[in-house]
Amino acid sequence: MNENLTVVGGGVIGLSAAWRAARRGHHVTVFDPEPARGGASWLAGGMLAPVTEAWPGEEHVLSLGEESLRRWPAFARELAEEGADPGLAGHGTIVVAFDSADAGHLDILADYLRSLGRDVEQLTGREARRLAPGVGAVRGGLHVPGDLAVDNRKLLTALFDACVRRGVEFRRERVESLDGLGPVVLAAGAWTGRLHPLLESAVRPLKGEILRLRPRRGCLPPPPYTVRAMVEGRPIYLVPRADGELVLGATQYEAGFDQAVTARGVRELLEGAERILPGITEYELVEIAAGLRAASHDALPYVGELGEGVFAATGHHRNGLLMAPVTADAVVAWLAGEPPPDEIGAATPARLLEKERV
Ligand code: GLY
Repeated sequence: MNENLTVVGGGVIGLSAAWRAARRGHHVTVFDPEPARGGASWLAGGMLAPVTEAWPGEEHVLSLGEESLRRWPAFARELAEEGADPGLAGHGTIVVAFDSADAGHLDILADYLRSLGRDVEQLTGREARRLAPGVGAVRGGLHVPGDLAVDNRKLLTALFDACVRRGVEFRRERVESLDGLGPVVLAAGAWTGRLHPLLESAVRPLKGEILRLRPRRGCLPPPPYTVRAMVEGRPIYLVPRADGELVLGATQYEAGFDQAVTARGVRELLEGAERILPGITEYELVEIAAGLRAASHDALPYVGELGEGVFAATGHHRNGLLMAPVTADAVVAWLAGEPPPDEIGAATPARLLEKERV
């Protein structure tokens, strides 16, 4: 076993891998100009909700997400044992429907969840409003109690602190070349494509605007669940935090590496959110931001060996927070020469070579 490991990227994937590897006795160095603070992880909603996040036809994404969800409670418990609260919340998801087309979609989703052995409860509009007070005029809903959520900022802080406690070295600089780095994990999110020719056109930025709001005095508090809906064909989610904040996300579109917040993006989110939770218009808007997810060509991440001593852990698309535990376990398995989690097989970067051959 080589004791040294370099990790390029100090977001949720890089820090999770670094912490897990350091726990196994590796000497880990993380390169990132702004570890635990910059990048998509700092802005994320933190929903751990694979089924409602998956899009039709993305079965491999779903099964990898479900496997990672199963790993989340132990991952969070072990992180808490290192001394910091990672902010895991056990509240489930409520998906609401505004019209008969949405309601039909929820029926399909309910059948799908049941086929996976997941608990699911179909709700009338009235039941949805009772569970999530403040929700607007919805036709029906779906309660998915097994979904989780994590406070992304608490998590990043907990991971960073755990890394420091485990002796991980942080180099606040960019990596221009992999030469001489030894075994290396590439986890630089949307920027990972610059690090390896095979990833160059495979990982692309996928922009998202996200807002943070807080109820003012006299406002109804946020619902106690993650609430999501399709509004005019766009997915909107509201994720409550334990400290009373409400995260509202997220737009999704291709804009290269542009990270400017656009007025249109903010308007779309606020209009969507108002439909779901009319009282939100009285909340204080405390943060508006835009970030870049790392998208892949098929919505699955690239997790696996790219070449001798180089391991890809990138391209997690909308699922970086969700898939952090299973990805970190795959990195540790690679270091130990052990088989990776079964579900990670579909995420092998070898599919890039197949794509090139086609
Ligand atoms: N996972 C939520 C998002 O990427 O917006």
